Amino acid sequence: MSRFVLITGCSSGIGLAAAHGLRQHGFSVIASTRSEEDAARLRREGFTAIRLDLADPASIDAGVAEALFLAGGRLYGLFNNGAYGQPGALEDLPTEALREQLETNLIGWHHLIRQVLPGMLAAGEGRIIQNSSILGLVAMRFRGAYNTSKFAIEGYSDTLRLELAGTGVHVSLIEPGPIDTRFRVNARDAFLRHIDPKESRHKKAYRQTLKRLEKEGPSGRFTLPPESCLPPLLHALNSRRPRARYPVTFPTRLFALLRRLLPTCWLDRLLVKSA
Ligand SMILES: NC(=O)c1ccc[n+]([C@@H]2O[C@H](COP(=O)([O-])OP(=O)(O)OC[C@H]3O[C@@H](n4cnc5c(N)ncnc54)[C@H](OP(=O)(O)O)[C@@H]3O)[C@@H](O)[C@H]2O)c1
Repeated sequence: MSRFVLITGCSSGIGLAAAHGLRQHGFSVIASTRSEEDAARLRREGFTAIRLDLADPASIDAGVAEALFLAGGRLYGLFNNGAYGQPGALEDLPTEALREQLETNLIGWHHLIRQVLPGMLAAGEGRIIQNSSILGLVAMRFRGAYNTSKFAIEGYSDTLRLELAGTGVHVSLIEPGPIDTRFRVNARDAFLRHIDPKESRHKKAYRQTLKRLEKEGPSGRFTLPPESCLPPLLHALNSRRPRARYPVTFPTRLFALLRRLLPTCWLDRLLVKSA
């Protein structure tokens, strides 16, 4: 029996690597992208690709309807992955920018889950895998909007896991650290769209932010390729006992440990120095 998995945000990065990887491992992948152009490109690569914009509930409704039709009525797995980072200090962040961030990174994911869950519950099996982040575990300056969205995804997923206990539907979080994708390029665009550095008391720090976001290639020696999220994803989909959390990269493992061990004021001192 085919196991259909819907993946969001497949135009690049972790979503695209997941689509390739899951296909190679025998899953029937339904790859979704925000733009029709990207969906068409994926179709040329032999994928079943649909359009699904997480910031637009009507697009989610249409995307899920198409995915369920393609999958014969129910999905085995959902990899909630599509998201972006909105950089900028919270004091400089227009309310609308925070709203947009949460609409894509949180509310859209919820809207999607509520539509695929009934089929999973009726079948008595299913996997919901949420792509969180190291920034869902610890906060960093100028990442407030993104931190808020990923901390929310952590709490959301923990709650959902408790509520689905015993149903056969499992919820897992993947928690990547730095991964070499288009994430920084997309974050730079979001920064330029919403933040006016000239007006900010953080303008000097923002020059560093932009430098970091414009740097090409891996952002540091602990950066991993997007394929590094595939083994945890496969485990979450295949294992009889999927884990609640899959940290990916050394920095995630380190900070997951430090936040348990250190008093907040010590952790703050470390985090304030991090880029
Ligand atoms: N890269 C990292 O260092 C890192 C670390 C921790 C967690 N993550 C998480 O990993 C996931 C994938 O990111 P990535 O690193 O692979 O970055 P990426 O290459 O920028 O991919 C992000 C994907 O999300 C899609 N997306 C953005 N807004 C969307 C919307 N409104 N509706 C549907 N899709 C949308 C993008 O589509 P478009 O091309 O149309 O914009 C793109 O396909 C995200 O959840 C991110 O938070 C990444």
